[in-house]
Amino acid sequence: MIRSRIAGIGKYLPEQVVTNNDLLQYMDTSDEWIQERTGIKERRFAHRTKETTTTMGVEAARMAIERAGITAQDIDFIIFATLSPDYYFPGCGVLLQRAMQMKEIGALDIRNQCSGFVYALSVADQFIRTGTYKNILVVGSEKHSFGLDFSTRGRNVSVIFGDGAGAVVLQPSTNENTGILSTHLHSDGESAEILAMYNPGTHANHWKEERYADFDEAPIGQMFMSQQMIDKAQLFPYMDGPAVFKKAVVKFPEVIMEALSNNGLSPADLHLLIPHQANLRIAQFVQQKLGLRDDQVYNNIQHYGNTTAASVPIALCEAWEKGLIKEQQLVCLAAFGSGFTWASALLRW
Ligand code: UT7
Repeated sequence: MIRSRIAGIGKYLPEQVVTNNDLLQYMDTSDEWIQERTGIKERRFAHRTKETTTTMGVEAARMAIERAGITAQDIDFIIFATLSPDYYFPGCGVLLQRAMQMKEIGALDIRNQCSGFVYALSVADQFIRTGTYKNILVVGSEKHSFGLDFSTRGRNVSVIFGDGAGAVVLQPSTNENTGILSTHLHSDGESAEILAMYNPGTHANHWKEERYADFDEAPIGQMFMSQQMIDKAQLFPYMDGPAVFKKAVVKFPEVIMEALSNNGLSPADLHLLIPHQANLRIAQFVQQKLGLRDDQVYNNIQHYGNTTAASVPIALCEAWEKGLIKEQQLVCLAAFGSGFTWASALLRW
């Protein structure tokens, strides 16, 4: 049986550190509120003009490719997960292909927000298992700082998010007991609008709610992007935080248990859980629910905030760099977010 394994891993975090106190110049918030509700102390913001979601993805990819002992020319497929692409279209995958001067290989963009990286890994896993590709580059990258409402109006969203990128190279494993054991993907679109960015989009005011936009009077050509959207701050993400929190603390443990029980394992067997870094309180809740020790869960949201599709590969990379993951150890990746979508991947390193 062919399994896929992570042959190389990399991350990129922009230099600029933004503390909670730094945010006080833009909005009415406090270090105490942010730390108490989210665990976040600081996050990184990309350079406003010199760095993009793609350039950060490229930096993480370079590291992953080098650590895999191959070159960019050896990559035979790209999967790029992000919700903050350089362009509305085309996707970041082709921009990375160009920037890294790769061959004319396939490039797929994944739009699954916080669970984007785990979804991407799952797709890559299938291509490796079927023998289609030998070196797949999977990237998660976000430049949130460019598109958030930094006024007090948007503080429930903007204090949470940070910029960064993570990447892995997936290859066929030579050892049947090493690599990705299984992946598990889920969605429930019932609550799609409670964590979403509606504009620009083609929803045509389908839900008739104030926070979308009023298209009824808009002339053709101004349906997609209008002055009103700017005036009413409708070009920023919307989040009903408490509703997302409530669903997350149910779905995270569920999808982790699904991965473990599918492989005849239990939480006690887990060496390290890498949860999507959404909120430290969510991770603590999940830890408690599964009866995991502190050393079985890796968190770094304190320093990077929530980097959406990048958070899992950044945390995985950092844990590996610290020597917390060794060969044959059991690692679970899990994520939950906008959609809702949620997912897990169980792997033996
Ligand atoms: O990765 C994507 C998935 N996203 C998540 O998993 C996020 C899940 N949700 C959360 O993490 C939490 O809901 C938040 C951290 C977003 C918010 O925490 P909360 O405890 O649910 O607060 P809340 O939204 O219920 O707001 C409580 C109060 C409100 O004031 P009033 O109405 O009680 O007077 C907010 O206006 O806190 C206020 N507030 C703030 N105060 C200071 C909201 N944001 C801030 C802020 N600073 N940044």
